[in-house]
Amino acid sequence: MGMILGWVVAPVLLFAYLRFGYVPMSVNGPAIPFEQLLAGTAIQARIAREAPTQAAFPASPENVLAGAKLYREHCTECHGLPGSVPTFAAKGMFPPPPQFFEHKGMGNDPVGQNYWIVANGIRLTGMPGYRESLTDQQLWQVSQFLSHRGQLPAGVETALTEVVPAK
Ligand code: HEC
Repeated sequence: MGMILGWVVAPVLLFAYLRFGYVPMSVNGPAIPFEQLLAGTAIQARIAREAPTQAAFPASPENVLAGAKLYREHCTECHGLPGSVPTFAAKGMFPPPPQFFEHKGMGNDPVGQNYWIVANGIRLTGMPGYRESLTDQQLWQVSQFLSHRGQLPAGVETALTEVVPAK
């Protein structure tokens, strides 16, 4: 009896749950069962296993400045700038992308962990992986910038917020 329940009824119920539209798939619905476990716990565990402990490129002023420019080009749409309000896209995502200049406590993990996230992305969250698009040096530069954004040299702060003429 237990076997029948386990092997037949449970998968049928699971299939029905998926197939007949009961899963909350819109961004403003509740979390899907196990979503937090997968997109939170499982990812943290994977990062802890794989993130490099030594930075291949140091947080030199040149690297942090180059990282600021990369951030401005590729990350602000989701993660914002100093003093900015969340964009329409950022407001419409689940989980919401952390606004790094609002929530100063986010993204302060050791730089190797930020590097892992920027290189690989995070499944089920909308955080893209940039390994295909940025060089290894660029991945470290933007990660170093993020880890040091609390104490940026004046020139870097300007590079981040100055108005760029429209192309
Ligand atoms: C399309 C939107 C989007 C873009 C573009 C984007 N991100 Fe993200 N990012 C996210 C979301 C959503 C999360 C939240 C994931 C979560 O809650 O686990 C996130 C999380 C992160 C985290 C983990 C923060 C933490 O403490 O948990 C880092 C680091 C990060 N992003 C860096 C970047 C960098 C650097 C760039 C640009 C190269 C970038 N992201 C571009 C959506 C985006």
